[in-house]
Amino acid sequence: MSETKISLAVKHLRALSQEQLHDLLLRASKGGFTLGDAIRSAVQNPDSSVGAYAGDADSYDTFAEFFGPLIEEYHGFNGTHVTDFDVTKISTEPVDPTGEAIVSTRIRVGRNLAAYPLAPLITREQRLDLMNKVSAVLKEKLTGDLAGEFYPLEGMSEETRVQLVQDHFLFKQGDRFLESVGANRDWPEGRGIFHNADKTALVWINEEDQLRIISMQKGGDIRAVFDRLARMVEIINASLPLSYHPKYGAVSSCPTNLGTAMRASVHVKIPFVSARPDFKEICQDLKLSIRGVDGEHSESKGGIYDISNKRRLGVSEVDAVTTMYEGIKKLLAMEREMAAAAAV
Ligand code: ARG
Repeated sequence: MSETKISLAVKHLRALSQEQLHDLLLRASKGGFTLGDAIRSAVQNPDSSVGAYAGDADSYDTFAEFFGPLIEEYHGFNGTHVTDFDVTKISTEPVDPTGEAIVSTRIRVGRNLAAYPLAPLITREQRLDLMNKVSAVLKEKLTGDLAGEFYPLEGMSEETRVQLVQDHFLFKQGDRFLESVGANRDWPEGRGIFHNADKTALVWINEEDQLRIISMQKGGDIRAVFDRLARMVEIINASLPLSYHPKYGAVSSCPTNLGTAMRASVHVKIPFVSARPDFKEICQDLKLSIRGVDGEHSESKGGIYDISNKRRLGVSEVDAVTTMYEGIKKLLAMEREMAAAAAV
């Protein structure tokens, strides 16, 4: 069998000594997650890039000899994560003053509730209970500009469904990676979407993480988007304590999301810069990730790119957003220079 690339899960499993492996195989996390459960997705999907999941926050400690080096390799960080949502630290200077380049801004964080196991382990009853509790809190506590409605996926009317798809709000059943680890069980029961009247504040319930808290709007006002997100996280945490790990920050089912669990992105028109052969390297140097406009693994459309912060762990929420802000500012400056040169 030719093996060109192995997942981080398999790589770090192989790095364990016989004794460590034997010892880890005899363990189970507080919620009953085993090492076999943690790597099931990598075993069933050999093309995984990471391939490991946690069943509960304790999985990261119970299998620390396995997860620790894997997380360190993926994130390039082995310190203690610090959370910081202080909006006053975000620049008030508009990143795209003419408003011509940035189509929209979206920041999401993954969060899970301290009181429940993560998606791979949560039971049907717990999932339903969580959905009911969270949706009740959202309806009661999100007020003013955040006030909105909850739409369960199960039994959703065709009209609502079509509208949510059009707005790019509807989340789909998890992929085969999540299927392997049991995160799609009982789909679509216990899942749903909350959004405010303006559709700028959203919460997905019981997807890959129990909560995906999302703030978005047209244009490039990154500070306003961050501010709204910070308020939502604070309000939710005050009623339903979120799960934070002393070392890894926000707990997520996939180790790639640990720390801030934040993806701060803009859809931006950069026809000149994106045509450069070294566009990928430029973004890498600016610590930015590039995607197409239709989500993970999609292509760009009409020269519009989805550009986001790369690092999630070892940088605070403020740092993650600031990295995105500074990077976009540089890309837009390059774009202006190239456009001006082309116009001569
Ligand atoms: N488990 C998948 C893999 O290893 C997805 C990893 C990151 N993506 C995510 N949505 N968590 O390829």
